[in-house]
Amino acid sequence: MSGTKLTINAETQLYGILGNPVNHSLSPLIHNTLFEKYKINAAYMAFQVETNCLGLAFEAMRAMGMRGANITIPFKEAAVNFIDEIPEDADRCVGAINTVVNRKGRLHGYNTDVTGFLAALKEELGFNPEAKKILVLGAGGAARSVVFALARAHADEIIIHNRTVKRAEGLSDYVSEYFPKTEIDVIFDLDSAGKKKPDLVVNATSFGMRENEASPFNLESLTHQASVYDLIYTPVETPFLKQAKKLGYPHANGLGMLAAQAALSFELWTGKKEGVRETMLAALKQCIPS
Ligand code: ATR
Repeated sequence: MSGTKLTINAETQLYGILGNPVNHSLSPLIHNTLFEKYKINAAYMAFQVETNCLGLAFEAMRAMGMRGANITIPFKEAAVNFIDEIPEDADRCVGAINTVVNRKGRLHGYNTDVTGFLAALKEELGFNPEAKKILVLGAGGAARSVVFALARAHADEIIIHNRTVKRAEGLSDYVSEYFPKTEIDVIFDLDSAGKKKPDLVVNATSFGMRENEASPFNLESLTHQASVYDLIYTPVETPFLKQAKKLGYPHANGLGMLAAQAALSFELWTGKKEGVRETMLAALKQCIPS
């Protein structure tokens, strides 16, 4: 956490990220840097939570008066069951949250991934999903936010592929209810996905994060150039993005989405907005090789 000078004392407010694995997370760096900049007496920790202990973690958040949290892999969907309220209509329908705000003992859930993803697509790839065809890999909590975001932004067609087909079908059915104008299909045979000519391919699986993992999709099977977005940001360049780079396709990793969703979480916790993005990007630059 270079560059920050946190002083922990009896009045320090606690924030954190709950996930598993969580040791790759850059959220502690981002939020501790921001707390320091705005002189807020708070600290942000990473908590690796075992899958069967998520409920206990939320109880601990209440019992210890933690002020807020981010939720990451693999808890974004399950977390919905442990909070008191999802105040925003738009967030409620997604069925996955990534931000918790503790307001006088009541835990409020938000999804800042949806807006964060659309902001990243626009800023990093200049991509507007309206009337476009998009292939989404994955059907977990992160993919759920991606599919909602794309449908909300009036995508013409979304094709979902997931290792567990049932999960993809569930996601497709669920989102179709909210956005009947967007065609949302599940594809089993990934080799035939290229022939569908997607304008954008999104990796919303965690495949590619661990060492020795290959690419979740062979971009060479595409019959024309597509934009490529990988939600993963550690490693900075997954095998999937390496291939996109080699083919000369417009591509971006998940850092832009990380920054955009984190800025929205920080605003929910502190009301601060001005200068947040610049501070965050400077902190990320220090620890990530370009
Ligand atoms: P998150 O909240 O980040 O989306 P998640 O809900 O655990 O985390 O979802 C992880 C996604 O990565 C899922 O789509 C998962 O596929 P399954 O639904 O079949 O589990 C996908 N995934 C994880 N490891 C994978 C692997 N080795 N190969 C292919 N897909 C994988």
